[in-house]
Amino acid sequence: MAVDFSGLQRELEAKCTAASSARELMESMVTTLHDRVPHYHWVGFYLLSADGIMLKLGPFAGAATPHTRIPLNQGICGAAVTLGETLVVDDVNSDPRYLACSLETKSEIVVPIYRHGKIVGELDIDSHTPAAFTKQDREFVEACARLVGELLEARAA
Ligand code: SME
Repeated sequence: MAVDFSGLQRELEAKCTAASSARELMESMVTTLHDRVPHYHWVGFYLLSADGIMLKLGPFAGAATPHTRIPLNQGICGAAVTLGETLVVDDVNSDPRYLACSLETKSEIVVPIYRHGKIVGELDIDSHTPAAFTKQDREFVEACARLVGELLEARAA
């Protein structure tokens, strides 16, 4: 069955309005995305350290990952921050930047989160399906990352 991305986005916008902190929104977002989108098998936030050199694992849903800290020169996660853009990798095993989390992961999307024009973190999603992330997924995940950025701008994390 097709995923109702517009409905999910409206739900997340309502959660954003109701959330008392960005962390609360991130916690509820990872659970919602993981539980409601069948091809999102791991959903998590990485937050940039205050000195801007390390990504640290934030709220996530899915299997535990060994990658709790990722330097900016490593992984698809590091590359998304360094390049300052969304990265969609259709086949993670053919991307030399890829840091493996689970043998089952086949594709990945990483979307930077901006606060007042600066990257403060990212939303990372893995799928067990090859090339799982379509243009529609990308627009949806970018909208999710924007919601977190807007809340970070409006309130304390
Ligand atoms: N695959 C990521 C590492 C994080 S895990 O997917 C949770 C990367 O290559 O940066």
